[in-house]
Amino acid sequence: MADSVRIGLLGRGTVGAAFADLLAARAAAVEAATGRRPELAGTLTRSEGDFGEILERSDVVVELIGGTDPARAFVIDALRAGRPVVTANKQLLAQHGEELFGIAREAGVQLRFEAAVAGVIPIVRVIQESFGVTEIDKVFGIVNGTTNFILSEMAASGAGYEDAVARAQELGYAEADPSDDVSGADAAAKMAILARLAFHTPVDFDGVSYEGIERVTPDDLAYAKELGLSLKLLGVAERRDGGISVRVFPCFLYGGHPLAPVGGPFNAVMVESEAITEVTMSGPGAGGVQTASAVLGDLVSVLAGETPLPDAETSLPLVADVSSSFYLHLEVADRPGVLAKVARILGENEISVKSFVQRGIGDDARLAMVVHECLESRFAAAVEEIAELDDLRSPPRSIRVIEEEFV
Ligand SMILES: NC(=O)c1ccc[n+]([C@@H]2O[C@H](COP(=O)([O-])OP(=O)(O)OC[C@H]3O[C@@H](n4cnc5c(N)ncnc54)[C@H](OP(=O)(O)O)[C@@H]3O)[C@@H](O)[C@H]2O)c1
Repeated sequence: MADSVRIGLLGRGTVGAAFADLLAARAAAVEAATGRRPELAGTLTRSEGDFGEILERSDVVVELIGGTDPARAFVIDALRAGRPVVTANKQLLAQHGEELFGIAREAGVQLRFEAAVAGVIPIVRVIQESFGVTEIDKVFGIVNGTTNFILSEMAASGAGYEDAVARAQELGYAEADPSDDVSGADAAAKMAILARLAFHTPVDFDGVSYEGIERVTPDDLAYAKELGLSLKLLGVAERRDGGISVRVFPCFLYGGHPLAPVGGPFNAVMVESEAITEVTMSGPGAGGVQTASAVLGDLVSVLAGETPLPDAETSLPLVADVSSSFYLHLEVADRPGVLAKVARILGENEISVKSFVQRGIGDDARLAMVVHECLESRFAAAVEEIAELDDLRSPPRSIRVIEEEFV
């Protein structure tokens, strides 16, 4: 009979329960792949189990509690006790990754976290292993399925933001309190982890700037459609000006962009590098069973042996001001000279217009345009100046645009 491997399961909620079921269902396959038969050594929830006893009985610890407290302390204790750890906890990795990587290295045990980023897409493995020695220039994509569903719903049905959130909650794609997702914080934590792995540099989660989708209106989506654009919440981590930029923001994409057709609760991540050009992977963004499957994959990897632990080789600064292309939406009085004033302000800030749509609404007019790439600080200055015009009927609205047109 094959040796057993005893799994200490911390957390038995959506993912933990699915993992326990999957582990039982796939035990024979795990044994065939690794030569070891997995069995649960114990489960910890708020009302069941004792962490010390479970640790004592375990060969591997699977952390599916979430959050940083008490998960951080449990993971540290497990690593220090020489137990490899598998976790799906993005907050923990984004905020304490450096500390945990150091402890894992010191203890000579593995810390695996594939399920923490981009759902089922094996992006951590690909960056760490397949592209481990490739100089990556950019990792970006849709890393939050909840917001992608909400935006898809708004675009498809013309629904308002609140209705689309309610629909996402009804279908189980959004939690009762969706603020972590819709604010962009969840995606920011994932991008911090991906940037850390891709650029081999510590990434301070507090330095990751993020904007969410709370202020997106059906109008933005309707106008964007006319300009051939679709809206996504994007996470972008890239090398810029000798440093790195890690950001999350709502962004319009042209129809030919590989991420444009990624709809519903799906995720997609692109990796760019001179050596590999561009790779895109997409798949389900969350879900108990899907996430559990990524956790089980990590368990098999732990049992199969060594992987390079992410070591910080460099220390790259976070670059604050970068260039982007923008969509700008203005509601103005429909009278002569207004467009000229807007054009003058844009021109003085060296911002040029790529495409433009105007629609009359009674005595007013709506102007929607896409401007070419410019420094974000310059664009912000121009928008501030435009907002001061007497002709404005409501505050200007702007959203970033990925300008490249893929064919
Ligand atoms: N849900 C997804 O689709 C998804 C996707 C990707 C990643 N993840 C990540 O997976 C992890 C688990 O998420 P989940 O959705 O399964 O969470 P969940 O449904 O809220 O389950 C959390 C589990 O942890 C237990 N727990 C909470 N606080 C505890 C404490 N202080 N001591 C001991 N046990 C405690 C809970 O115990 P009780 O049962 O007693 O409440 C519950 O069993 C998180 O890191 C999450 O970010 C989830």
